[in-house]
Amino acid sequence: MAVALDYNGEIALISGGATGLGFAIARAFGLCGATIALNDLAEDRVAAACERLRTEAIACRGSAADVRDAEAVSTLISATEEELGAPSIVVANAGLYPNTPFLDLSETEWDRVIDTNLKGVFLLCQAAARSMVRAGVAGRIIVISSTAAQRAIGGWSHYCTSKAAAVMLTRAMALELGPHGIRVNTVLPGYIDVDEGGQHLSLAYREGARAAAPLGRAGTPEDVARGVLLLASPLADYISGAAVVIDGAASAGPVGLRVVDP
Ligand SMILES: NC(=O)c1ccc[n+]([C@@H]2O[C@H](COP(=O)([O-])OP(=O)(O)OC[C@H]3O[C@@H](n4cnc5c(N)ncnc54)[C@H](O)[C@@H]3O)[C@@H](O)[C@H]2O)c1
Repeated sequence: MAVALDYNGEIALISGGATGLGFAIARAFGLCGATIALNDLAEDRVAAACERLRTEAIACRGSAADVRDAEAVSTLISATEEELGAPSIVVANAGLYPNTPFLDLSETEWDRVIDTNLKGVFLLCQAAARSMVRAGVAGRIIVISSTAAQRAIGGWSHYCTSKAAAVMLTRAMALELGPHGIRVNTVLPGYIDVDEGGQHLSLAYREGARAAAPLGRAGTPEDVARGVLLLASPLADYISGAAVVIDGAASAGPVGLRVVDP
């Protein structure tokens, strides 16, 4: 089998694509030939991101929509269908990660995180999967979870819960969408420096997280994008329902704890 990541003729819809991991994923698909349907919350941010992609000759159609809003998501999918066709690849990336100790956590913040990181994934993936089934497209859905799905982190009870639930939702979707030829997988990135998200996290956490990978370097948005590209490619034709950790082995085990001296 020739190994080439060629996405010409594919329509890749990425939520939360204006910046950070979402933008890197959109750019990676675009550089491999895909037409990008880029979503984010605000028109101006969507327009600016599409403009940046176009400077690299990437075809991009932008749509502002809040993934928590079923009607907005439905409009996003139908507008994509009308202008580009049914998406063949969907990356449910939009998410947020505010940091508040459990004892201080408000119901409002809990709802905002669960609504974005879990309900938003459900709404987007269901609408996109319906579109794929209608069009008879052998689609691929990739959900951006986090290693926080597997390890609780102080101040992130809502975030860890939302990301763990997103892993189970991925498995449930893989089960039900498999008979339609749709593969569904999730990636679990470790901490990755991005331009906007994460600026509110403590310096100690960010420095510790950057240094934690046994591979000896901090992860980049492009590392995550390459993992997503791989899962959407024919190389992953029999991979569905999988949760792929992308963290340089940072969460593989306790780094400093050994039963034998090195
Ligand atoms: N950066 C990391 O260390 C890291 C690690 C693991 C997982 N993740 C996950 O990756 C995803 C992207 O994170 P990031 O670090 O790039 O964050 P980011 O804040 O830089 O980007 C997130 C984007 O999502 C958009 N967004 C937020 N709510 C939205 C909504 N309701 N509808 C549409 N768009 C919305 C934001 O406007 C923003 O452009 C998130 O799901 C996050 O949980 C990030």
